[in-house]
Amino acid sequence: MERIRIGVIGAGGIFRGAHLPAYKELSDAVQVRWVCDLDESRAREGAEKVGARWTTRLEEVLEDEEVDAVDICTPKHRRIVEEAATASKHILCEKPLEFSLEDCDACIEAARKAKVILMVAENYLFDPVIMEVEKALNEGRLGELRRIRLFQGWKGAPPGSWRRRRETAGGGCLMDDGIHLIALVRHFMGEPVKLHALVKRFGAPEGTDVENQAALIMDFPDGGMGVVEAGLDIQQGLFRFEFHGDKGSAFYESSGGRRELRILSDPPSSPPVPPRFPSIESYRNEIAHFLECVARLKMPIYGGEDSRREVELVLAAYRSSLSGEAVDVASTECNREKAEGKLPG
Ligand SMILES: NC(=O)c1ccc[n+]([C@@H]2O[C@H](COP(=O)([O-])OP(=O)(O)OC[C@H]3O[C@@H](n4cnc5c(N)ncnc54)[C@H](O)[C@@H]3O)[C@@H](O)[C@H]2O)c1
Repeated sequence: MERIRIGVIGAGGIFRGAHLPAYKELSDAVQVRWVCDLDESRAREGAEKVGARWTTRLEEVLEDEEVDAVDICTPKHRRIVEEAATASKHILCEKPLEFSLEDCDACIEAARKAKVILMVAENYLFDPVIMEVEKALNEGRLGELRRIRLFQGWKGAPPGSWRRRRETAGGGCLMDDGIHLIALVRHFMGEPVKLHALVKRFGAPEGTDVENQAALIMDFPDGGMGVVEAGLDIQQGLFRFEFHGDKGSAFYESSGGRRELRILSDPPSSPPVPPRFPSIESYRNEIAHFLECVARLKMPIYGGEDSRREVELVLAAYRSSLSGEAVDVASTECNREKAEGKLPG
């Protein structure tokens, strides 16, 4: 199989720490042809590490006919998605697709019109921890899933970061981190119909105008329940996930250098887990899936509509918190692309 040729747009933290090592591991299937960043030194350094060309101009990447796809690793995505689609490049875009439904729709429409693949990089779905939980569920070890409870907290980006401002990040811990957890809840439980949230800012450094504490409860048509909590300005990074079925439970905790997954069923087990969450494997698996979709012109398991739906739920959580009331979030919109079985190309 020919290697897929990629133009990376944005060579900051997520590229250097996660996508770059994944590309190195997948070098049989992919060639990074360009690394583009507005910051010249980042573009050059990133390119040197993967043997690619570098540029500060997006057009240079998009005009290159040898480029099959772009990997968008910038904080804002709409303009880059639209221009990449117009240039007939397939698109892997970091989460969230965008911060407003209008911008998400523009991205989805641009990809649909150009008949290119649009995958959003929701790496949690590809993490070995989550895949173990899914395996236990598929083997019936947990029984029917009734309840999910997911917590993620970290100290957060330093003051002055784009992540601390609504204008550049669209929101705080819920839009940036909680959205991964909402993706997991949807993956395992389907579409919620009602949502109740408390979203606030408390004890945040000066210059922060986004939420640093969020809790949301989602209600499902079959009676199931999903609870998502996200926090910034929590000094020790912590993940705690619980999945409760009618026959057993799965617990995962990553805190203070300790990582443990326990499947509490008959018989109980503790499958080995990678040394961090989310793991490098999660990014490698996610990028491998994208490459396979591009090679076979296949729908990704997680696309623009999925990310749009999660942005919709985050925005609903903001409304719920402001009003103090539950919000009706029943929707059949999110899977219309999949339901119609539309394949790009
Ligand atoms: N999946 C995950 O676990 C995960 C983790 C971290 C970040 N992310 C996502 O990745 C994206 C980037 O986050 P980050 O932490 O790498 O941010 P960052 O600030 O570290 O890096 C962003 C880079 O993009 C560059 N950039 C900005 N606009 C650009 C443009 N128009 N053209 C070219 N380059 C541009 C900046 O110069 C910077 O180097 C965000 O969407 C974020 O939500 C995902």
